[in-house]
Amino acid sequence: MDKYAVFGNPIVQSKSPLIHQQFASQTDQVMEYSAILPEVDGFKDAIKLFIQSGAKGCNVTAPFKHDAYEIADELSVYAKMAGAVNTLSFIDGQIVADNTDGRGLIADLKHHKVELNNKRVLLIGAGGAARGVLLPLMDEQPSHLTIVNRTVSKAQQLADMLNSEAKVNAVGFDELGTQSFDVVINASSSGLSKQLPPVTANIFHNTSICYDMVYGAGQTTFNQWAVDNGVKRVIDGLGMLIEQAALSFQIWRGVKPATEQIRTTLRQQLN
Ligand code: ATR
Repeated sequence: MDKYAVFGNPIVQSKSPLIHQQFASQTDQVMEYSAILPEVDGFKDAIKLFIQSGAKGCNVTAPFKHDAYEIADELSVYAKMAGAVNTLSFIDGQIVADNTDGRGLIADLKHHKVELNNKRVLLIGAGGAARGVLLPLMDEQPSHLTIVNRTVSKAQQLADMLNSEAKVNAVGFDELGTQSFDVVINASSSGLSKQLPPVTANIFHNTSICYDMVYGAGQTTFNQWAVDNGVKRVIDGLGMLIEQAALSFQIWRGVKPATEQIRTTLRQQLN
């Protein structure tokens, strides 16, 4: 049976096995998908063993996304731009790497009928999560992208990578002023410690849409704050998780799974 897995440390929390097993049964693909926990310095050895066992591919999550980038023989443009890899395919002795996180975000936005084309977008954060979505975000051709981060130099580095000065700028939180945005995407990790990034509600106008890349039971810290400040449409990152998995599945199996059923299942499990 064709073999896949997700590699991470920790890994018990991963929803990838459930998601991919659902995709496999839904699309009649005969495959297995497990969870593997290498030591934090043991990723490369673990992958070697996995390849030797005849595996076809894997997903990679924290803290191994950069290790996966380093062992790749071939990197997609998205993986290169992200500097990180979440999907490996083992093809004819080659390790072929991609990053589906950013395209997962866009697919989830489209699922929610949110278009970025010609929109003013604010991206909060400039760490790995923000970098991972940059290229697919720009592919949508927003009218303007502002990247805001506590450490401004990191936001500036991301903006510089895009090479699109007219359409992209980088600022610190105190430089945001009073401008508002059509779509606000929170890619900072502040919510993981139940904190808010230091933005004011000025970033929103009447029809702003707020997307938080994290998810959990109930509203995320950032989305709750947005709702409290009058934002009518907020979306959390559960759909992004599912859509990035669907894209990995499609890369490996050549079929695109439907995501409705697993969206319902995972949402029910969370709440
Ligand atoms: P990830 O892989 O989740 O992106 P990361 O690379 O460590 O994790 O990046 C975390 C991001 O969240 C950074 O942009 C960080 O800001 P700094 O670059 O200034 O450190 C941001 N962040 C974390 N906690 C924050 C907080 N309380 N307020 C604002 N930004 C925060």
